[in-house]
Amino acid sequence: MSESSAPISGAMKGSNAKRGLWSSRLAFILAATGSAVGLGNVWKFPYITGENGGGAFVLVYLLCIAAIGLPIMMAEVLIGRRGGRSPVNSLREIARHDKLNPAWPIVGAIGVIAGFLILSFYSVIGGWAASYVVKAGSGQLAGQSADAIGAIFSDLLADPATLLMWHTLFMALVMLVVAKGVRAGLERAVSILMPALFLLLLTVVGYAMTTGEFGRAVTFLFQPDFSKLTTSGILVALGHAFFTLSLGMAVMMAYGSYLPKNISIAKTSIAVCVIDTGVALLAGLAIFPIVFANGLEPGAGPGLIFQTLPLAFAQMPMGSLFGTLFFVLLIFAAWTSGISLLEPIVEWLEEQKGMNRTTSTLGAGFVCWALGITSILSLNLWSDFAPLGAISMLEGKTIFDLLDFFTANILLPLGGLLIAVFAGWVMSRQAMEDELALSKPMFRLWYITVRYITPVAVGAVFIYNLIGS
Ligand code: TRP
Repeated sequence: MSESSAPISGAMKGSNAKRGLWSSRLAFILAATGSAVGLGNVWKFPYITGENGGGAFVLVYLLCIAAIGLPIMMAEVLIGRRGGRSPVNSLREIARHDKLNPAWPIVGAIGVIAGFLILSFYSVIGGWAASYVVKAGSGQLAGQSADAIGAIFSDLLADPATLLMWHTLFMALVMLVVAKGVRAGLERAVSILMPALFLLLLTVVGYAMTTGEFGRAVTFLFQPDFSKLTTSGILVALGHAFFTLSLGMAVMMAYGSYLPKNISIAKTSIAVCVIDTGVALLAGLAIFPIVFANGLEPGAGPGLIFQTLPLAFAQMPMGSLFGTLFFVLLIFAAWTSGISLLEPIVEWLEEQKGMNRTTSTLGAGFVCWALGITSILSLNLWSDFAPLGAISMLEGKTIFDLLDFFTANILLPLGGLLIAVFAGWVMSRQAMEDELALSKPMFRLWYITVRYITPVAVGAVFIYNLIGS
């Protein structure tokens, strides 16, 4: 075991000297937030909260963010900065330097697979958001009733050709940025677009307060009713904590490798977690008052925001303008997240297979795009096709549902678990103390969490769900 605090230096290509660092702490926070804040916050969080009964689910989710998500984010950033390379090579270098088992880079491989699978359906949902820019902008939503808006959404899902067109567009946007190299444009775009999205969400929350059902929404979101909490709900909350923070597939590890040494990993990680959670809660506060005021169903599923937000925009003054803006910003949020899903795959292809950036982007993007078609068909032609329906836990799940379930609820927590074990049990404690530079009691708290609490909690939720199903 190494007791040295010096960063590992190696002769491998792509070491820190050549890669450049983030221009500031803010730049890192913006980029990490750009990855974290996305469809997970605005689309997924509200609908899974609705499906899982509200308050108690939200409480478990917040607990998972604080007690599991934050410590794992710190671990990922730490490993990345320590290794100073792409995730697979960072793990390999640390393992080699500390004479550890060379199998650890497998965590990076899990990340690459998870990235492929997530991006395939993520792009389809990004496409939904894109199609709503046009719907809002052309005034199609103005003055419509809840039923009419519901019908507009079901018509979209029933139409594979239109879905394919928007999915293709979204994937092309992601590939465009990744092919050009991520850093230059990303920092600047995120620093403008993220605050704008935040402001627009606040505007919708402001509108939602006038609907008269704001109090009911607050009760629904924040008053826990544990009778509504199921074991699968706990698994979904845990999985979502990973998904929304972009954890478990070494994305934060990749970003951490660009973080200068003098910047506090703990403070920056806390900032990212707080912003991400803030956006999700704001989205909930924007959506549920509209759900209740219009007699809609909180458990409506993946279409929830596309049935509620357009309704708010249909009714509020200058709604077409705000609606268009909102969906544009949602696309940007999804875009920056999509980029962070494709980037690790492309980096991996470049390093491991020696492909150039354009070829690897085109290749990886094409495979994701093709896989995305199965998600599109799950919404219409294949909507009754449940390939693993024989397993009771997966009953009635379409390919789209399975991709979501398998990545968020299995692969990401598993990746996160391995990362926690790597940090808690494998890396040298001295190296981590140096990287984190925390006070003794704070370090101990973090260390105990990644060593014991996280593995036990993730393991327990897994086992409980296996037994329960
Ligand atoms: N966090 C993003 C969201 O909430 C999704 C995402 C982007 C992601 N990159 C990731 C999830 C990496 C897991 C791992 O929309």
